Amino acid sequence: MTPAQEPLWYKSAIIYQVHVKAFFDTTRDGYGDFRGLYEKLDYIAGLGVTAVWLLPFCPSPLKDDGYDIADYCGVHPTYGSLRDCDEFIEAAHQRGLKVIGELVINHTSDQHAWFQAARHAPAGSPERDYYVWSDTPDRYREARIIFTDTEPSNWTWDNVAKAYYWHRFFHHQPDLNYDNPAVRAEIIKAMRFWLDQGLDGLRLDAVPYLIEREGTNCENLPETHAYLKELRTVVDEHYPDRMLLAEANQWPQDVRAYFGDGDECHMAFHFPLMPRLFMSLRKEDTRPIRDILQQTPAIPTNCEWAIFLRNHDELTLEMVTDEERDYMYNEYAADPQMRLNVGIRRRLAPLLGNNRRAVELLTSLLLSLPGTPVIYYGDEIGMGDNIYLGDRNGVRTPMQWNGDRNGGFSRADAARLYSPLIADPVYGYQAINVEAQERDQSSLLNWMKRIIAVRRRYVTLSVGTLELLETGNHSVLAFVRRTAEEALLVVANLSRFVQPAAPVLAEFAGQRPIEVMGGAEFPCIGTEPYFLSLGPHAFFWFEIKPC
Ligand code: NOJ
Repeated sequence: MTPAQEPLWYKSAIIYQVHVKAFFDTTRDGYGDFRGLYEKLDYIAGLGVTAVWLLPFCPSPLKDDGYDIADYCGVHPTYGSLRDCDEFIEAAHQRGLKVIGELVINHTSDQHAWFQAARHAPAGSPERDYYVWSDTPDRYREARIIFTDTEPSNWTWDNVAKAYYWHRFFHHQPDLNYDNPAVRAEIIKAMRFWLDQGLDGLRLDAVPYLIEREGTNCENLPETHAYLKELRTVVDEHYPDRMLLAEANQWPQDVRAYFGDGDECHMAFHFPLMPRLFMSLRKEDTRPIRDILQQTPAIPTNCEWAIFLRNHDELTLEMVTDEERDYMYNEYAADPQMRLNVGIRRRLAPLLGNNRRAVELLTSLLLSLPGTPVIYYGDEIGMGDNIYLGDRNGVRTPMQWNGDRNGGFSRADAARLYSPLIADPVYGYQAINVEAQERDQSSLLNWMKRIIAVRRRYVTLSVGTLELLETGNHSVLAFVRRTAEEALLVVANLSRFVQPAAPVLAEFAGQRPIEVMGGAEFPCIGTEPYFLSLGPHAFFWFEIKPC
């Protein structure tokens, strides 16, 4: 079987998340486009990643950066044509890269023709029935509000329809009515359209909220799962090598249901792990990470978690306790401007105080813990953010290619760009850019390429089981990833100071750790705990081989 037909490709993938808008502008209109992305494919492939996840690119008024879709089966004209998109997908495939897109399944833009028809159609008509309406804003009271900073209610009055419509996100994003078979059929059509275009995977946005029922919190309802199984049946029947990725910001026990019996989504994001990586780092205590890993249930063998450090949204703090949230805000968002909804709108490097060792440590965990890693564009060069841009725009600024005008992103006048570039002295494009880091042997970019290459050498890091080890030191995390063929030992010091650790490795007595980056052979393992000293924020990946 060629890699292209390998149905479980997502289990050993490394995903690079990028916005067409933010990458490279070939038309000088201040927005990145598909042709620009095409031109930069060698850069993406050169990172060593195996898949590209594109943020929404369908026609949209862009009030929620494309998560407000006005037409499911097209390309936003600013980003290019459907043909440009096809050519990009084909060129990515030629380089062995998979392409993952978005299926924004829960809602549309209020500019979508379905919504415009619905509000003008009489109550009870088939057109009106595409969305969820009510005469009062009192229904489904138990559903929480997600965009707490901007939306006072999940209901908004529509003066044309003379009724309230339901929306879990912005008021300009009405929720589709999944009790209507016509809606269910339309979304299957949209899914097939993109799979026929050649997309290898689709991220299912906001998947828990499809169905509403009185007396529930309107999340994870059985009817939602039934619909996902319908989608999956179509995928299995017609597109057996494609992948569905669930976006459900919930506890792992709840997200587990989205894998079904291996017959719903192939992948799901692991949201709660992410804040705990940051928490453990700042607390210099591995327990938050260990606890969440221990609470993570087993999943069917054809499924995989997607794990990440940062993405295009705020660093969500929904999946932590109130006390932990206060801690995270105090430690990572002292300035209230950094906070948004229930989270923190910052990028990786500034969150970590631009501490290279800390960035490497968290990246090493991203690449060695179970789950398919997702790297957010720009984090591979340590890009900064702009917390003054409003909403989540501060982490969606143009890619910084070089020190030229507009960071090499666009030749449009700076005033025309969709967003200003990061231009401060620490993270600005003159200091942080791809061209400079390509020339610098010890840059973050070159380090990222090396560690990604190492990760790809060891399939065990993708598919191996996880065993957490005792180390005798709460600051030091140690775990084994194992397959029938191989065992890898990972040891990571979450402290900013030197630490001793003594992982219990007795089961490997008579073998020795070999450090994978440099090949250094460590002393043979005996029956006693295995003593190691670790520098500040240091980590090791070891192969275990006979002495
Ligand atoms: C989740 C997406 O990640 C976010 O960017 C978007 O605003 C909401 N879903 C609504 O579509």
